[in-house]
Amino acid sequence: MTPADLPSVQGRDLLGPGPGTARTFYDEVGGHPTFVRLVDAFYAGVADDEVLRPMYPEDLGPANQRMLMFLEQYWGGPTTYSEQRGHPRLRMRHAGFRVNPDARDRWMLHMRAAVDALDLPPAQEGVLWDYLERAAHSMLNTFDA
Ligand code: HEM
Repeated sequence: MTPADLPSVQGRDLLGPGPGTARTFYDEVGGHPTFVRLVDAFYAGVADDEVLRPMYPEDLGPANQRMLMFLEQYWGGPTTYSEQRGHPRLRMRHAGFRVNPDARDRWMLHMRAAVDALDLPPAQEGVLWDYLERAAHSMLNTFDA
């Protein structure tokens, strides 16, 4: 079947909305304001966490910005993260931090609360959480306490 053979709906074929207009997950969940809310809520949790807080720089602002840029890029938003930071190489960038099961679980607890606060439709929430949960497990780099 060639594209020309595809059925059309109201005069448009089913190839999608066309170049430059494809909606990404980033757009679907509300774009920049949604990711700002997510990352701000996450860092509010980190700020009060006795294990995670000491791992982060004194000023959480730049760390917040790095996470925001990364997640926006990952979900199809602006590519500012790579322009400023290069390839994410997240496991490598976390190698200097002791990400043991306790740290991972605390990270997931704050991220879970941040995702809940977005109040997304269940399908979108599921997609977002599934990724974050898998990413958190993949960042584990030690079982030392
Ligand atoms: C599992 C537990 C995790 C812990 C304890 C942890 C901890 C940290 C710490 C201490 C930093 C340095 C903060 C900074 O100055 O930027 C950092 C950076 C970062 N983390 Fe995590 N992290 C975890 C998981 C994750 C996951 C799952 C992701 C992605 C979904 C992620 C994304 C990032 C990003 C994008 C940066 C900034 C990297 C850069 O330097 O460009 N982290 N993390």
